[in-house]
Amino acid sequence: MTEVRERIRQLGILPVIVIDDAAAAVPLADALAAGGLPAAEVTFRTAAAAAAIARISEARPDLLVGAGTVLTSAQAAEAQAAGARFVVAPGFSPPVVDWCLAHDLPVFPGVCTPTDIEAALGRGLDTLKFFPAEPIGGLPYLKAIAAPYGSLRFIPTGGINASNVRAYLEFPKVLACGGSWMAPAEWVRTGEIARIGAETAAAVAAARRGAEVNG
Ligand code: 3PG
Repeated sequence: MTEVRERIRQLGILPVIVIDDAAAAVPLADALAAGGLPAAEVTFRTAAAAAAIARISEARPDLLVGAGTVLTSAQAAEAQAAGARFVVAPGFSPPVVDWCLAHDLPVFPGVCTPTDIEAALGRGLDTLKFFPAEPIGGLPYLKAIAAPYGSLRFIPTGGINASNVRAYLEFPKVLACGGSWMAPAEWVRTGEIARIGAETAAAVAAARRGAEVNG
């Protein structure tokens, strides 16, 4: 858990991708890496997810590839077999979390209530996805909900983009932000790889800007 968590922290942004055709996976991963984010959360929203993870993990072993939108323990097993280094889920699913913990696969389940958070604490987790970040109340809501839980860290996802990512990252309880804005499914589908690389570089710059301004 610790090494994956530390890499996500260092990156600051975790790209969330939806891929229909596994053949596009490695060029897409290369575009993200070229833009400064050598990582991808490949969502199990499409049938190509496991094959896409396998292609990336085989061709680009240094890139941090994980699985997103994991809803069942069977998907978690499929993800690990394909080479996923971590699992992200939209909600707190006990079967998914317990399977990952039993198989040494770092897992970041989604939470958006104190009840969710306390279920995750009960499993000993220290880092949780905060989802859907913007629709549920954004940074003010996250600050309020995080207050009772001192050492927990969050990965806000859902509605994050270049204009709000820095504000989230400035909150010390945010480990990193997740999002699809640098690689929207439509751009992936139409093969706009250069555009994805440029938007990724812009995302990295947006995440850094505040730190530079703050000295
Ligand atoms: C997810 O799958 O985690 C979210 O749908 C990503 O949210 P975004 O598309 O608003 O970045």
